[in-house]
Amino acid sequence: MGETMLGLKRTHYCIKIKENLIDEEVVVMGWVQKRRNLGSLIFIDLRDRSGIVQVVFDEKDIDEEGFKKAETLRSEFVIAVKGIVRKRESVNPNMETGYVEIIAKELRILSESETPPFAIEENSSVKEDLRLKYRYLDLRRPDLQRNLMLRHRVAQSVRNFLDNEGFLEIETPMLAKSTPEGARDYLVPSRVHPGSFYALPQSPQTFKQLLMVSGFDRYFQIVKCFRDEDLRADRQPEFTQIDMELSFVEVDDVIDINERLLQKVFKDAIGIDIPLPIPRLTYQEAMDRFGSDKPDIRFGIELQDISDIVKNSGFRVFEEAIANGGSVRGINGKSCGNFSRKQIDSLVEVGKTYGAKGIAWLAIKEDGSIKSSFTKFLSEEIVNEIIKAMDGQPGDLLLFCADKNSVVYDALGNLRLEIAKRLELTKKDDYSFVWITEFPLLEWNEEEKRYVAKHHPFTMPMDEDIDLLDTDPGKVRAKAYDICLNGVEIGGGSIRIHQQDVQEKMFNALGFTKEEAYENFGFLLNAFKYGVPPHGGLAYGLDRMVMIMAREDSIRDVIAFPKVKDASCPMTEAPGNVSEKQLDELGLKINIKK
Ligand code: AMO
Ligand code: AMP
Repeated sequence: MGETMLGLKRTHYCIKIKENLIDEEVVVMGWVQKRRNLGSLIFIDLRDRSGIVQVVFDEKDIDEEGFKKAETLRSEFVIAVKGIVRKRESVNPNMETGYVEIIAKELRILSESETPPFAIEENSSVKEDLRLKYRYLDLRRPDLQRNLMLRHRVAQSVRNFLDNEGFLEIETPMLAKSTPEGARDYLVPSRVHPGSFYALPQSPQTFKQLLMVSGFDRYFQIVKCFRDEDLRADRQPEFTQIDMELSFVEVDDVIDINERLLQKVFKDAIGIDIPLPIPRLTYQEAMDRFGSDKPDIRFGIELQDISDIVKNSGFRVFEEAIANGGSVRGINGKSCGNFSRKQIDSLVEVGKTYGAKGIAWLAIKEDGSIKSSFTKFLSEEIVNEIIKAMDGQPGDLLLFCADKNSVVYDALGNLRLEIAKRLELTKKDDYSFVWITEFPLLEWNEEEKRYVAKHHPFTMPMDEDIDLLDTDPGKVRAKAYDICLNGVEIGGGSIRIHQQDVQEKMFNALGFTKEEAYENFGFLLNAFKYGVPPHGGLAYGLDRMVMIMAREDSIRDVIAFPKVKDASCPMTEAPGNVSEKQLDELGLKINIKK
């Protein structure tokens, strides 16, 4: 059985044991990081959430019983130590407390530990599945402790800022009806209404709009959202939004407040100064220049449209793509021109994984000679024009894609990222924000043969495009905006429709009848009969924001208890089976087709 703390009170966190405390008596408590036994001397690295301090057990300073106990210490035992701070003989400048040590006078073993399945250390190379199974141990590692402390600081800074700006933090239900974010819902069966289900909110979207109808003017919430999507490094089935909504605002008002919020939060949390204003690109500019609506603008390698040069070039691949309404575009991969044939082929393969049927390439060698997969199909004159348009210099590699625009953007946009990775063009401590504005309001869904809302069905069309809703819905631009950081969409929002006639036009364009619209969002449409302020808002993915601040590659590293790729939790083993009785109460029967 462990000993108690009775009569002992912690005086300092480990990291506070510094030279100013020399000769003072202190009490520290924490976990044994490491023990070194030198016979009559035992050294312990003691760890708490603040850091590590060295404790020395010396036979001449502690009684025999205490020394014997110290000999039994193992990694991860929880102990309390009372002792005197002393200057170290052999200092360790790599440790914050490395100039001092604690000479133990008293030791209590508060709890013993079995040998942990992996060592508790920074930058663990242990497989993530094992770490997540023992997440409570994994979370003892200093890097994860720092990440969660950073997350806390971000949340505090956000609350502070928004409170000062007059935002009210208001909670909204978790047991809700399906929301319009467009992912698959997580459903919760109702016992009281057998056969009926709540949906866990994909976001508080409809509720925050209702709060505007209720006159709260400015709302925010740091809130869990649930989406049953395929998981990736920056996607979790439950994730956290910093969600906000404001009344009597236009796009520029929302952007202004959020630029100031980002500036403050990045300063508070990681000491980074973000210059304002943050640059803006329209959706179309972002696609044309970077092939992506979440462009990483830390480096160039922008797309160039060479359709005009090659539309009558005689090269069938290029001509056909253009004739079918697509385009031919290229990127200049700069020093990739020195890549081996194998390296070039692997870039072509990357392009193909994004749907390109092929990637045509042209390498300009240092001596000015050309190696290429396609110039043999073209006249020298056109080849020279292409090189000129692409600003091709000796040593450059030019890559081209001919296809419908969506494929061209996707393939080249991703090739651009791949090249930046291979040439190490990006730095994690370079924070480049960009707003993407004027998104298309609607997107054609080939499966359902109808338009679907790109953001959600309450997004306001741009004033000058409203009439196009009836005639050419695909062309309508929205008062919607995303905020991107280093190629990651960290937030997005829009101004909402507050007039019934516009909302009806929108539902029309989406192919909803009035009845269907009411069935889905009747409560919101009803509310909108009773005086609605113009309003709009935005939500950040908190996990993604903190991931980038912490310079991590996965949001799992900034979430205390994340799920793995198949949406399960290796530690709790959720999701799990439930008893027959529970199912009966809910009126449910499991019917899995094997
Ligand atoms: P949206 O759907 O763009 O907007 O979500 C806002 C932000 O949430 C983050 N995010 C995610 N993070 C981790 N895992 C996920 N599965 C995940 N899905 C989204 C992204 C994204 O930018 N109600 C609207 C906001 C509004 O219009 O005000 C909404 O939810 O960083
Ligand atoms: P092919 O005529 O199919 O042998 O193609 C000749 C060259 O054009 C090869 O380098 C192909 O990789 C390239 N190519 C084929 N399809 C495309 C495409 N859709 N876009 C760009 N290059 C392509």
